[in-house]
Amino acid sequence: MEVVIKSGAEEAAVPAADAIERLLADKPDAVLGLATGSSPQALYDELVRRYEAGRISFARARGFMLDEYVGLDAGHPERYRNVIERELVGRVDFAPDAVQGPDGLADDPQAAAVAYEQAIADAGGVDLQVLGIGTNGHIAFNEPGSSLASRTRVQPLTAQTREDNARFFDDDVDAVPPLCLTQGLGTIMAARHLVLLASGTGKAAAVRELVEGAVSASWPATIMQHHPHATVLLDEAAASRLERADYYREAYAAKPQWQGF
Ligand code: F6R
Repeated sequence: MEVVIKSGAEEAAVPAADAIERLLADKPDAVLGLATGSSPQALYDELVRRYEAGRISFARARGFMLDEYVGLDAGHPERYRNVIERELVGRVDFAPDAVQGPDGLADDPQAAAVAYEQAIADAGGVDLQVLGIGTNGHIAFNEPGSSLASRTRVQPLTAQTREDNARFFDDDVDAVPPLCLTQGLGTIMAARHLVLLASGTGKAAAVRELVEGAVSASWPATIMQHHPHATVLLDEAAASRLERADYYREAYAAKPQWQGF
């Protein structure tokens, strides 16, 4: 796991944008895994800037979202399908229907989960998966206790996650849906490159477990320690509880330019 500590969230997004720019240059029909929430916003803004500057095109790329609330109206602004459209997809040149998410309005959400796994497999798997991390250590909506081998499924959100996400629902925790459809940890681990972004002191405890804790379903993101190609991009605040922060800084400073991410 490569850990990169930058002064702020915008700076931490740059290496992620570099990795995506390089991937799309090498493989224009790459499959991107897309997180929602606040963590990837600086990255998506940077990708939009590079698209507008003619450096990057998503015209042949495809995307798969990590998760979706179950039962949120099709037009609800916080439905993740609408969030990703607003934050990234509608601002660049993805082809229509090139980005899919789990169907949180399906009559049979479990069947939708199975279909989603199949769609990812049919696309050849995810080349680069963008991730955020919850304050309780979740990635996607794999809450503590999730099987480390889990696949896409219906998952109840913890009270902590609903409280954390109430800020997107006018601070009304009861408006945050109790259920979601989420890629599993096994699904995420099948992506070829994991790129996790975290900023702010609220994430420092989860980041500490992710990078330096024991692998455990109690901190689901720790499964990333088993991934052969995982990049963790942090601002100073999110990195503030790391014991080996100085080493990560030295290692990054000594990294050869050609190596990339
Ligand atoms: C969202 C997702 C979640 C978030 C996490 C952090 O698609 O999969 O795991 O990444 O809840 O949320 P933010 O970034 O809003 O702090």
